Amino acid sequence: MKKWHILEDITVEKLVFGGKWFVRLDEWVTDSNKKKVLFITGWAVPGSIVDVKIIKKRKDYYESQIVAVKKKSLIETGAYELFPGAPWMNIDYNEQLKIKQTQIEESFFHVQKIQPEINFLPIIPAPDQFGYRNKIEFSFGKYISHKEEVFQEFNVGFHKRGEFSKVEDYDECLLIDSEQNILYKKIKDFAKQSWLPVHDQKMWTGFRRHILIRKTYFTNQTMVIFSYFPEYFENKKDLESALIDIKKFFIELAESDTSLSSIYLSHNSNKSDTVIGDMELICGSEVITEELLGLQFDIGPKSFFQTNSRGAELLYTLVKDFSHKESFKNGTVLDLYGGTGTIGMIMSDIAKDVISVELNEEASTNGQRNAQKNSINNVEFINVKVEDFLNDYIEKWMKADLLIIDPPRAGMHPSAPENILKFNTKQIIYVSCNPATLARDCQYILENSDYTIEKVQAVDMFPHTHHIETVVSFIKKD
Ligand SMILES: C[S@@+](CC[C@H](N)C(=O)[O-])C[C@H]1O[C@@H](n2cnc3c(N)ncnc32)[C@H](O)[C@@H]1O
Repeated sequence: MKKWHILEDITVEKLVFGGKWFVRLDEWVTDSNKKKVLFITGWAVPGSIVDVKIIKKRKDYYESQIVAVKKKSLIETGAYELFPGAPWMNIDYNEQLKIKQTQIEESFFHVQKIQPEINFLPIIPAPDQFGYRNKIEFSFGKYISHKEEVFQEFNVGFHKRGEFSKVEDYDECLLIDSEQNILYKKIKDFAKQSWLPVHDQKMWTGFRRHILIRKTYFTNQTMVIFSYFPEYFENKKDLESALIDIKKFFIELAESDTSLSSIYLSHNSNKSDTVIGDMELICGSEVITEELLGLQFDIGPKSFFQTNSRGAELLYTLVKDFSHKESFKNGTVLDLYGGTGTIGMIMSDIAKDVISVELNEEASTNGQRNAQKNSINNVEFINVKVEDFLNDYIEKWMKADLLIIDPPRAGMHPSAPENILKFNTKQIIYVSCNPATLARDCQYILENSDYTIEKVQAVDMFPHTHHIETVVSFIKKD
Protein backbone atom coordinates (compact mmCIF):
# COMPACT_ATOMS: atom_id res chain seq x y z
CA MET A 1 0.00 0.00 0.00
CA LYS A 2 1.50 3.34 -1.04
CA LYS A 3 1.37 6.82 0.43
CA TRP A 4 -1.87 8.69 -0.50
CA HIS A 5 -3.67 5.38 -1.07
CA ILE A 6 -7.32 5.53 0.08
CA LEU A 7 -8.46 2.67 2.29
CA GLU A 8 -12.22 2.27 2.33
CA ASP A 9 -14.66 1.00 4.95
CA ILE A 10 -12.28 0.71 7.87
CA THR A 11 -13.88 0.01 11.25
CA VAL A 12 -12.16 1.98 14.03
CA GLU A 13 -11.10 -0.33 16.88
CA LYS A 14 -9.77 1.63 19.81
CA LEU A 15 -7.92 4.67 21.11
CA VAL A 16 -4.15 4.64 21.44
CA PHE A 17 -1.59 7.25 22.47
CA GLY A 18 -1.86 10.88 21.40
CA GLY A 19 -5.58 10.69 20.63
CA LYS A 20 -5.00 8.48 17.60
CA TRP A 21 -7.28 5.60 16.66
CA PHE A 22 -6.07 2.09 16.01
CA VAL A 23 -6.91 -0.70 13.58
CA ARG A 24 -5.08 -4.00 13.07
CA LEU A 25 -4.68 -4.71 9.34
CA ASP A 26 -4.67 -8.01 7.55
CA GLU A 27 -1.15 -7.43 6.18
CA TRP A 28 2.04 -9.03 7.49
CA VAL A 29 5.10 -7.04 8.52
CA THR A 30 7.99 -8.22 6.31
CA ASP A 31 10.15 -10.93 8.01
CA SER A 32 7.93 -11.03 11.06
CA ASN A 33 4.95 -12.90 12.42
CA LYS A 34 3.20 -9.64 13.31
CA LYS A 35 0.44 -7.92 11.39
CA LYS A 36 0.70 -4.25 10.42
CA VAL A 37 -1.33 -1.66 12.25
CA LEU A 38 -3.01 1.51 11.10
CA PHE A 39 -3.12 4.71 13.15
CA ILE A 40 -5.92 7.10 12.27
CA THR A 41 -6.12 10.83 12.97
CA GLY A 42 -9.44 12.63 12.74
CA TRP A 43 -12.98 12.66 14.07
CA ALA A 44 -13.95 9.06 14.70
CA VAL A 45 -14.81 6.78 17.59
CA PRO A 46 -14.63 3.03 18.14
CA GLY A 47 -17.14 1.40 15.83
CA SER A 48 -17.18 4.21 13.22
CA ILE A 49 -16.71 3.07 9.62
CA VAL A 50 -14.41 5.45 7.77
CA ASP A 51 -12.36 5.96 4.62
CA VAL A 52 -8.78 7.01 5.29
CA LYS A 53 -5.85 8.36 3.30
CA ILE A 54 -2.40 6.91 4.03
CA ILE A 55 -0.05 9.76 4.92
CA LYS A 56 2.93 7.87 6.34
CA LYS A 57 4.27 4.40 5.64
CA ARG A 58 6.62 2.58 8.00
CA LYS A 59 7.87 -1.01 8.27
CA ASP A 60 5.20 -2.12 10.73
CA TYR A 61 2.56 0.57 10.65
CA TYR A 62 0.78 3.20 8.58
CA GLU A 63 -0.43 6.62 9.64
CA SER A 64 -3.59 7.88 8.03
CA GLN A 65 -6.15 10.65 8.05
CA ILE A 66 -9.90 10.30 7.80
CA VAL A 67 -11.32 11.51 4.50
CA ALA A 68 -14.92 10.37 4.99
CA VAL A 69 -17.09 8.94 7.75
CA LYS A 70 -19.25 6.25 6.14
CA LYS A 71 -21.18 5.15 9.21
CA LYS A 72 -21.37 6.54 12.70
CA SER A 73 -20.66 4.38 15.69
CA LEU A 74 -23.48 3.38 18.01
CA ILE A 75 -21.83 5.32 20.84
CA GLU A 76 -22.02 8.61 18.93
CA THR A 77 -24.68 11.06 19.98
CA GLY A 78 -24.40 14.12 17.74
CA ALA A 79 -22.47 16.18 15.23
CA TYR A 80 -18.90 16.83 16.33
CA GLU A 81 -18.15 19.74 14.00
CA LEU A 82 -20.24 21.89 16.33
CA PHE A 83 -17.87 21.48 19.26
CA PRO A 84 -14.48 23.09 18.75
CA GLY A 85 -11.74 21.95 21.07
CA ALA A 86 -13.92 19.08 22.28
CA PRO A 87 -13.60 16.35 19.66
CA TRP A 88 -15.28 13.68 21.77
CA MET A 89 -18.39 15.70 22.48
CA ASN A 90 -20.33 13.32 20.26
CA ILE A 91 -19.45 10.29 22.40
CA ASP A 92 -21.72 9.45 25.31
CA TYR A 93 -19.85 10.46 28.50
CA ASN A 94 -19.96 6.99 30.07
CA GLU A 95 -18.50 5.58 26.85
CA GLN A 96 -15.71 8.18 27.03
CA LEU A 97 -14.85 6.93 30.51
CA LYS A 98 -14.82 3.31 29.29
CA ILE A 99 -12.50 4.22 26.39
CA LYS A 100 -10.09 5.95 28.78
CA GLN A 101 -10.11 3.11 31.30
CA THR A 102 -9.38 0.61 28.52
CA GLN A 103 -6.57 2.76 27.16
CA ILE A 104 -4.87 2.97 30.56
CA GLU A 105 -5.13 -0.76 31.14
CA GLU A 106 -3.87 -1.58 27.63
CA SER A 107 -0.96 0.82 27.87
CA PHE A 108 0.27 -1.30 30.82
CA PHE A 109 0.54 -4.35 28.53
CA HIS A 110 4.36 -4.56 28.84
CA VAL A 111 4.26 -3.59 32.52
CA GLN A 112 1.99 -6.56 33.15
CA LYS A 113 4.62 -8.89 31.75
CA ILE A 114 6.61 -8.00 34.88
CA GLN A 115 3.70 -7.62 37.29
CA PRO A 116 0.73 -9.56 35.89
CA GLU A 117 -1.73 -8.58 38.61
CA ILE A 118 -2.24 -4.83 38.68
CA ASN A 119 -4.95 -3.19 40.73
CA PHE A 120 -6.64 -0.84 38.23
CA LEU A 121 -9.24 1.18 40.11
CA PRO A 122 -12.21 2.47 38.08
CA ILE A 123 -11.67 5.90 36.49
CA ILE A 124 -13.07 8.82 38.50
CA PRO A 125 -15.44 10.98 36.39
CA ALA A 126 -14.83 14.72 36.08
CA PRO A 127 -16.65 17.03 38.51
CA ASP A 128 -17.90 19.11 35.53
CA GLN A 129 -18.40 17.97 31.97
CA PHE A 130 -18.60 21.53 30.52
CA GLY A 131 -17.01 24.90 31.25
CA TYR A 132 -14.27 23.20 33.24
CA ARG A 133 -11.17 24.75 31.65
CA ASN A 134 -9.55 27.60 33.58
CA LYS A 135 -7.18 28.31 30.67
CA ILE A 136 -7.72 28.44 26.93
CA GLU A 137 -5.59 29.58 24.03
CA PHE A 138 -7.12 30.73 20.74
CA SER A 139 -4.88 31.24 17.72
CA PHE A 140 -5.18 33.81 14.97
CA GLY A 141 -4.58 32.45 11.50
CA LYS A 142 -5.75 32.02 7.96
CA TYR A 143 -7.76 29.25 6.45
CA ILE A 144 -6.97 28.54 2.85
CA SER A 145 -8.25 25.41 1.22
CA HIS A 146 -8.00 25.29 -2.55
CA LYS A 147 -9.87 22.02 -2.55
CA GLU A 148 -12.89 23.43 -0.76
CA GLU A 149 -12.39 26.86 -2.35
CA VAL A 150 -12.35 28.59 1.01
CA PHE A 151 -10.02 31.55 1.38
CA GLN A 152 -10.49 33.24 4.73
CA GLU A 153 -7.96 35.81 5.75
CA PHE A 154 -9.19 36.33 9.30
CA ASN A 155 -9.79 33.38 11.58
CA VAL A 156 -9.53 32.98 15.34
CA GLY A 157 -10.04 29.60 16.92
CA PHE A 158 -8.16 26.33 16.89
CA HIS A 159 -5.71 24.80 14.47
CA LYS A 160 -7.26 22.41 12.02
CA ARG A 161 -6.33 18.93 13.09
CA GLY A 162 -3.39 17.66 11.07
CA GLU A 163 -3.00 20.99 9.18
CA PHE A 164 -1.12 23.20 11.51
CA SER A 165 -0.93 26.32 9.35
CA LYS A 166 -4.73 26.52 9.12
CA VAL A 167 -6.99 27.91 11.80
CA GLU A 168 -10.71 27.18 11.99
CA ASP A 169 -12.81 30.10 13.15
CA TYR A 170 -14.95 29.68 16.26
CA ASP A 171 -17.00 32.08 18.34
CA GLU A 172 -17.18 29.94 21.43
CA CYS A 173 -15.89 26.83 23.13
CA LEU A 174 -18.04 24.76 25.50
CA LEU A 175 -15.05 23.76 27.62
CA ILE A 176 -14.78 27.28 29.06
CA ASP A 177 -17.58 29.06 30.91
CA SER A 178 -19.93 31.65 29.42
CA GLU A 179 -18.02 34.62 30.91
CA GLN A 180 -14.79 33.49 29.25
CA ASN A 181 -16.66 33.03 25.98
CA ILE A 182 -18.14 36.55 26.17
CA LEU A 183 -14.71 38.02 26.88
CA TYR A 184 -13.16 36.06 24.01
CA LYS A 185 -15.85 37.33 21.63
CA LYS A 186 -15.22 40.96 22.63
CA ILE A 187 -11.47 40.62 22.00
CA LYS A 188 -12.10 38.80 18.74
CA ASP A 189 -14.50 41.52 17.52
CA PHE A 190 -11.97 44.21 18.38
CA ALA A 191 -9.24 42.36 16.49
CA LYS A 192 -11.50 41.87 13.49
CA GLN A 193 -12.03 45.63 13.08
CA SER A 194 -8.29 46.27 12.90
CA TRP A 195 -6.39 46.41 9.62
CA LEU A 196 -3.47 44.47 11.11
CA PRO A 197 -3.15 41.05 9.48
CA VAL A 198 -3.24 37.79 11.38
CA HIS A 199 -0.09 35.77 11.78
CA ASP A 200 0.71 33.32 9.02
CA GLN A 201 2.54 30.38 10.54
CA LYS A 202 3.67 29.12 7.14
CA MET A 203 4.97 32.38 5.64
CA TRP A 204 6.13 33.66 9.03
CA THR A 205 4.45 37.02 8.68
CA GLY A 206 1.40 38.88 10.03
CA PHE A 207 0.87 40.56 13.39
CA ARG A 208 -1.74 39.01 15.66
CA ARG A 209 -0.98 35.58 17.09
CA HIS A 210 -3.01 34.45 20.13
CA ILE A 211 -5.63 35.27 22.72
CA LEU A 212 -5.04 33.42 25.98
CA ILE A 213 -7.65 33.56 28.74
CA ARG A 214 -7.14 32.21 32.25
CA LYS A 215 -9.94 32.35 34.79
CA THR A 216 -9.76 31.01 38.32
CA TYR A 217 -12.73 28.84 39.18
CA PHE A 218 -12.99 29.48 42.90
CA THR A 219 -11.99 33.16 43.09
CA ASN A 220 -13.32 34.49 39.76
CA GLN A 221 -10.20 36.35 38.60
CA THR A 222 -9.31 36.58 34.92
CA MET A 223 -6.00 37.05 33.14
CA VAL A 224 -5.80 37.81 29.42
CA ILE A 225 -2.67 37.60 27.28
CA PHE A 226 -2.71 39.05 23.77
CA SER A 227 0.22 37.75 21.77
CA TYR A 228 1.64 39.38 18.67
CA PHE A 229 4.59 39.09 16.31
CA PRO A 230 6.74 42.24 16.84
CA GLU A 231 8.89 41.73 13.74
CA TYR A 232 5.85 42.36 11.55
CA PHE A 233 6.78 46.04 11.76
CA GLU A 234 10.13 47.04 10.36
CA ASN A 235 10.43 50.10 12.54
CA LYS A 236 9.78 50.46 16.23
CA LYS A 237 7.67 53.61 15.87
CA ASP A 238 5.01 51.84 13.79
CA LEU A 239 4.91 49.00 16.28
CA GLU A 240 4.47 51.38 19.19
CA SER A 241 1.66 53.26 17.50
CA ALA A 242 -0.15 49.95 16.75
CA LEU A 243 0.23 48.96 20.39
CA ILE A 244 -1.33 52.22 21.63
CA ASP A 245 -4.75 51.20 20.19
CA ILE A 246 -4.46 47.70 21.57
CA LYS A 247 -3.54 48.90 25.06
CA LYS A 248 -6.37 51.46 25.01
CA PHE A 249 -8.88 48.74 24.11
CA PHE A 250 -7.74 46.43 26.92
CA ILE A 251 -7.64 49.16 29.55
CA GLU A 252 -11.22 50.13 28.68
CA LEU A 253 -12.20 46.48 28.74
CA ALA A 254 -10.77 46.07 32.24
CA GLU A 255 -12.70 49.12 33.42
CA SER A 256 -15.97 47.56 32.25
CA ASP A 257 -15.27 44.06 33.63
CA THR A 258 -14.35 43.82 37.30
CA SER A 259 -13.24 40.17 37.13
CA LEU A 260 -10.60 41.07 34.52
CA SER A 261 -7.71 41.51 36.91
CA SER A 262 -4.57 41.06 34.82
CA ILE A 263 -3.78 41.87 31.17
CA TYR A 264 -0.50 41.17 29.41
CA LEU A 265 0.88 41.68 25.94
CA SER A 266 3.17 38.91 24.79
CA HIS A 267 5.93 40.03 22.40
CA ASN A 268 6.09 36.70 20.74
CA SER A 269 8.77 36.06 18.08
CA ASN A 270 8.98 32.43 18.99
CA LYS A 271 8.76 29.85 16.22
CA SER A 272 6.61 27.52 18.27
CA ASP A 273 2.93 28.28 18.24
CA THR A 274 2.48 28.97 21.95
CA VAL A 275 2.10 32.05 24.06
CA ILE A 276 5.63 32.66 25.24
CA GLY A 277 8.08 35.51 24.76
CA ASP A 278 8.49 38.71 26.76
CA MET A 279 5.42 39.58 28.80
CA GLU A 280 4.41 43.20 29.33
CA LEU A 281 1.83 43.83 32.03
CA ILE A 282 -0.44 46.56 30.68
CA CYS A 283 -3.17 46.54 33.26
CA GLY A 284 -3.98 45.09 36.69
CA SER A 285 -1.95 42.72 38.83
CA GLU A 286 0.99 40.50 37.89
CA VAL A 287 -0.77 37.31 38.98
CA ILE A 288 -4.22 35.91 39.53
CA THR A 289 -4.91 33.80 42.61
CA GLU A 290 -6.75 30.47 42.65
CA GLU A 291 -7.85 28.73 45.83
CA LEU A 292 -7.58 24.95 46.03
CA LEU A 293 -8.31 22.83 49.09
CA GLY A 294 -8.17 25.90 51.32
CA LEU A 295 -4.78 27.10 49.99
CA GLN A 296 -4.13 30.10 47.76
CA PHE A 297 -2.02 29.86 44.61
CA ASP A 298 -0.71 32.83 42.63
CA ILE A 299 -0.53 32.08 38.92
CA GLY A 300 1.69 34.16 36.63
CA PRO A 301 1.44 34.43 32.84
CA LYS A 302 3.96 31.62 32.27
CA SER A 303 3.25 29.37 35.26
CA PHE A 304 2.00 25.86 34.81
CA PHE A 305 -1.27 25.34 36.66
CA GLN A 306 -3.70 22.46 36.25
CA THR A 307 -6.26 23.64 33.69
CA ASN A 308 -9.25 22.21 35.53
CA SER A 309 -9.45 23.64 39.05
CA ARG A 310 -12.15 21.34 40.46
CA GLY A 311 -10.44 18.40 38.74
CA ALA A 312 -7.12 19.47 40.32
CA GLU A 313 -8.69 19.34 43.78
CA LEU A 314 -9.81 15.82 43.02
CA LEU A 315 -6.37 14.82 41.74
CA TYR A 316 -4.44 16.33 44.65
CA THR A 317 -6.80 14.80 47.19
CA LEU A 318 -6.18 11.45 45.54
CA VAL A 319 -2.39 11.88 45.81
CA LYS A 320 -2.74 12.69 49.49
CA ASP A 321 -5.11 9.78 50.09
CA PHE A 322 -2.76 7.38 48.26
CA SER A 323 0.21 8.37 50.41
CA HIS A 324 1.08 6.02 53.25
CA LYS A 325 1.21 8.72 55.88
CA GLU A 326 2.54 6.42 58.57
CA SER A 327 5.69 5.76 56.51
CA PHE A 328 6.72 9.40 56.07
CA LYS A 329 5.00 11.27 58.88
CA ASN A 330 7.54 13.80 60.09
CA GLY A 331 9.70 12.83 57.14
CA THR A 332 10.79 14.48 53.87
CA VAL A 333 8.65 14.53 50.73
CA LEU A 334 10.29 15.24 47.35
CA ASP A 335 7.81 16.91 45.01
CA LEU A 336 9.52 16.48 41.63
CA TYR A 337 8.24 18.58 38.69
CA GLY A 338 6.52 20.70 41.30
CA GLY A 339 5.19 23.61 39.16
CA THR A 340 3.95 26.30 41.53
CA GLY A 341 4.28 23.86 44.44
CA THR A 342 0.64 22.81 44.56
CA ILE A 343 1.15 19.16 45.47
CA GLY A 344 4.04 19.93 47.82
CA MET A 345 2.03 22.51 49.72
CA ILE A 346 -0.97 20.23 49.97
CA MET A 347 1.29 17.54 51.49
CA SER A 348 3.07 20.00 53.80
CA ASP A 349 0.71 19.57 56.75
CA ILE A 350 1.52 15.87 57.05
CA ALA A 351 5.29 16.00 56.39
CA LYS A 352 8.22 17.43 58.30
CA ASP A 353 9.48 19.12 55.17
CA VAL A 354 8.88 19.15 51.42
CA ILE A 355 11.36 19.88 48.62
CA SER A 356 9.65 21.06 45.44
CA VAL A 357 11.85 20.85 42.32
CA GLU A 358 10.83 22.76 39.20
CA LEU A 359 12.52 23.89 35.99
CA ASN A 360 10.46 27.01 35.31
CA GLU A 361 11.84 29.93 37.28
CA GLU A 362 8.60 31.86 37.39
CA ALA A 363 6.68 28.83 38.67
CA SER A 364 9.29 28.26 41.41
CA THR A 365 9.23 31.94 42.43
CA ASN A 366 5.43 31.92 42.52
CA GLY A 367 5.63 28.69 44.52
CA GLN A 368 7.75 30.44 47.12
CA ARG A 369 5.31 33.33 47.22
CA ASN A 370 2.44 30.86 47.49
CA ALA A 371 4.03 29.18 50.47
CA GLN A 372 4.53 32.52 52.24
CA LYS A 373 0.99 33.58 51.40
CA ASN A 374 -0.30 30.45 53.09
CA SER A 375 2.12 30.72 56.05
CA ILE A 376 3.74 27.43 55.06
CA ASN A 377 7.35 27.33 56.23
CA ASN A 378 8.36 23.75 55.56
CA VAL A 379 8.40 23.74 51.73
CA GLU A 380 11.66 24.56 49.97
CA PHE A 381 11.60 25.45 46.27
CA ILE A 382 14.56 24.46 44.13
CA ASN A 383 14.62 25.91 40.65
CA VAL A 384 16.56 23.36 38.63
CA LYS A 385 15.94 20.53 36.18
CA VAL A 386 14.87 17.35 37.98
CA GLU A 387 17.58 15.35 36.17
CA ASP A 388 20.25 17.78 37.40
CA PHE A 389 18.79 17.87 40.91
CA LEU A 390 18.93 14.09 41.01
CA ASN A 391 22.56 14.02 39.91
CA ASP A 392 23.70 16.68 42.35
CA TYR A 393 21.47 16.24 45.36
CA ILE A 394 21.11 12.54 45.88
CA GLU A 395 23.61 12.49 48.72
CA LYS A 396 21.95 15.40 50.48
CA TRP A 397 18.37 14.16 50.16
CA MET A 398 19.08 10.48 50.55
CA LYS A 399 16.87 10.68 53.61
CA ALA A 400 13.74 11.41 51.54
CA ASP A 401 10.76 9.37 52.67
CA LEU A 402 8.22 9.84 49.87
CA LEU A 403 8.74 10.70 46.21
CA ILE A 404 6.00 12.37 44.21
CA ILE A 405 6.70 12.63 40.50
CA ASP A 406 4.50 14.68 38.15
CA PRO A 407 6.43 15.10 34.87
CA PRO A 408 5.24 16.77 31.65
CA ARG A 409 3.83 14.74 28.73
CA ALA A 410 7.28 13.54 27.65
CA GLY A 411 7.72 11.76 30.99
CA MET A 412 10.97 11.75 32.94
CA HIS A 413 14.32 12.57 31.36
CA PRO A 414 16.09 9.27 30.43
CA SER A 415 18.67 9.73 33.19
CA ALA A 416 16.07 10.36 35.93
CA PRO A 417 14.49 6.93 36.65
CA GLU A 418 17.81 5.33 37.58
CA ASN A 419 18.55 8.09 40.10
CA ILE A 420 14.99 8.12 41.43
CA LEU A 421 15.48 4.53 42.57
CA LYS A 422 18.57 5.44 44.61
CA PHE A 423 16.39 7.26 47.16
CA ASN A 424 14.95 3.92 48.09
CA THR A 425 11.81 5.49 49.59
CA LYS A 426 9.08 3.21 50.84
CA GLN A 427 6.61 4.70 48.38
CA ILE A 428 6.65 6.55 45.05
CA ILE A 429 3.55 8.29 43.73
CA TYR A 430 3.66 8.99 40.01
CA VAL A 431 1.14 11.43 38.50
CA SER A 432 0.99 11.44 34.71
CA CYS A 433 -0.88 13.10 31.86
CA ASN A 434 0.45 10.65 29.25
CA PRO A 435 -0.28 6.91 29.52
CA ALA A 436 2.49 6.00 27.04
CA THR A 437 5.36 7.65 28.95
CA LEU A 438 3.82 6.58 32.25
CA ALA A 439 3.86 2.94 31.15
CA ARG A 440 7.45 3.29 29.89
CA ASP A 441 8.64 4.72 33.23
CA CYS A 442 6.62 2.16 35.25
CA GLN A 443 8.25 -0.63 33.26
CA TYR A 444 11.70 0.75 34.07
CA ILE A 445 10.92 1.06 37.77
CA LEU A 446 9.58 -2.50 38.04
CA GLU A 447 12.44 -3.99 36.03
CA ASN A 448 15.15 -2.27 38.05
CA SER A 449 13.95 -2.28 41.63
CA ASP A 450 11.98 -4.14 44.24
CA TYR A 451 8.99 -1.83 43.93
CA THR A 452 5.60 -3.18 43.07
CA ILE A 453 2.59 -1.27 41.77
CA GLU A 454 0.07 -0.96 44.57
CA LYS A 455 -2.70 0.65 42.50
CA VAL A 456 -3.43 2.64 39.37
CA GLN A 457 -6.19 5.23 39.29
CA ALA A 458 -7.21 7.31 36.27
CA VAL A 459 -9.02 10.61 36.78
CA ASP A 460 -10.97 12.28 34.00
CA MET A 461 -9.88 15.89 34.19
CA PHE A 462 -10.67 16.65 30.54
CA PRO A 463 -14.07 15.40 29.36
CA HIS A 464 -14.70 15.34 25.58
CA THR A 465 -10.98 15.07 24.80
CA HIS A 466 -8.61 12.10 24.76
CA HIS A 467 -6.54 13.44 27.69
CA ILE A 468 -6.25 11.30 30.82
CA GLU A 469 -4.59 11.96 34.15
CA THR A 470 -3.38 8.89 36.05
CA VAL A 471 -1.96 8.32 39.53
CA VAL A 472 0.19 5.25 40.26
CA SER A 473 1.38 4.22 43.70
CA PHE A 474 4.55 2.11 43.98
CA ILE A 475 5.44 0.45 47.25
CA LYS A 476 8.39 -1.72 48.31
CA LYS A 477 7.82 -5.45 48.19
CA ASP A 478 7.59 -6.93 51.66
C1 LIG B 1 2.56 18.25 34.67
S1 LIG B 1 3.32 19.68 35.33
C2 LIG B 1 3.10 19.39 37.05
C3 LIG B 1 3.16 20.60 37.91
C4 LIG B 1 2.65 20.45 39.35
N1 LIG B 1 3.02 19.20 39.97
C5 LIG B 1 1.17 20.68 39.42
O1 LIG B 1 0.40 19.74 39.66
O2 LIG B 1 0.74 21.82 39.20
C6 LIG B 1 4.98 19.40 34.99
C7 LIG B 1 5.91 20.48 35.49
O3 LIG B 1 7.24 20.04 35.23
C8 LIG B 1 8.04 21.14 34.84
N2 LIG B 1 9.19 20.55 34.13
C9 LIG B 1 9.27 20.13 32.85
N3 LIG B 1 10.45 19.56 32.63
C10 LIG B 1 11.15 19.62 33.77
C11 LIG B 1 12.43 19.19 34.17
N4 LIG B 1 13.24 18.59 33.33
N5 LIG B 1 12.81 19.41 35.45
C12 LIG B 1 12.00 20.05 36.33
N6 LIG B 1 10.76 20.47 36.01
C13 LIG B 1 10.34 20.25 34.76
C14 LIG B 1 7.12 22.00 34.04
O4 LIG B 1 7.56 23.34 34.01
C15 LIG B 1 5.80 21.83 34.82
O5 LIG B 1 5.67 22.82 35.80
